[in-house]
Amino acid sequence: MDKKYKVQVVDLHKGYGNNEVLKGISLNVLPNEVVCVIGPSGSGKSTFLRCLNRLEETNSGHVYVDGYDIADKHTNIDLVRQNIGMVFQHFNLFPNMTVKQNITLAPTQLKKMTKEEADEAALKYLDVVGLKDKADVYPTTLSGGEKQRVAIARALAMKPDVMLFDEPTSALDPEMVGDVLEVMQTLAKQGMTMIVVTHEMGFAKRVADRVVFFHDGVIREQGTPEEIFDHPQHPDTKSFLDKVLNV
Ligand SMILES: Nc1ncnc2c1ncn2[C@@H]1O[C@H](COP(=O)(O)OP(=O)(O)OP(=O)(O)O)[C@@H](O)[C@H]1O
Ligand SMILES: [Mg+2]
Repeated sequence: MDKKYKVQVVDLHKGYGNNEVLKGISLNVLPNEVVCVIGPSGSGKSTFLRCLNRLEETNSGHVYVDGYDIADKHTNIDLVRQNIGMVFQHFNLFPNMTVKQNITLAPTQLKKMTKEEADEAALKYLDVVGLKDKADVYPTTLSGGEKQRVAIARALAMKPDVMLFDEPTSALDPEMVGDVLEVMQTLAKQGMTMIVVTHEMGFAKRVADRVVFFHDGVIREQGTPEEIFDHPQHPDTKSFLDKVLNV
């Protein structure tokens, strides 16, 4: 383990039965770095992200976050998870709670914040995502893009030092996508360490420090956005980009 990395993944393997999904992934992420993960459907992107906070058990290899080995059964995973924010394609907000209650639940229960502190933090992060006026409404009254921004505020309220995003805009109507990407770009500019699985190539190009191309359970190629988008080296990268950029 190298302490200089925020996230360090070493030869990670993960399969379901006979289906080996991740075939030896190694990836180091520096503090403040924004890594965008791209690749075809079924290449293991979501599985990889889920291994980073042990929503999936790994078969072998190591995943270090802030120096803790996530794959080690002795690690206090609940504690480590508090520092890893995760935002999914589907927002998973609690429908029976207001926006503010959704955001304050984890900080009051897990971080032992007082209700007042948590309320204040909720309003602060709702402001960050541009939804301060929605604090007291229920999620059903929100648009998809607004729900996703609430989900981001909820993750931020735990003061994570890494944020994982799994295709946060792919379930949204096109006109909602921009607002969510803008919030993510702001977070990136503020120095949040982020790993973002996305099919928004424009976002990856603009915001990523590094683009990682997953294919068939391995990292086929990685590099700066310029390297990957303008000068891809591997035939699999080229053919993937041809497909997604020429639709
Ligand atoms: N819980 C599970 N049980 C069995 N197989 C699974 C499970 N989750 C994922 N898989 C398999 O793992 C492979 C990779 O899936 P994964 O969801 O990681 O791909 P992905 O790159 O995120 O694809 P997409 O772009 O469609 O989201 C697929 O073949 C899938 O069928
Ligand atoms: Mg996926």
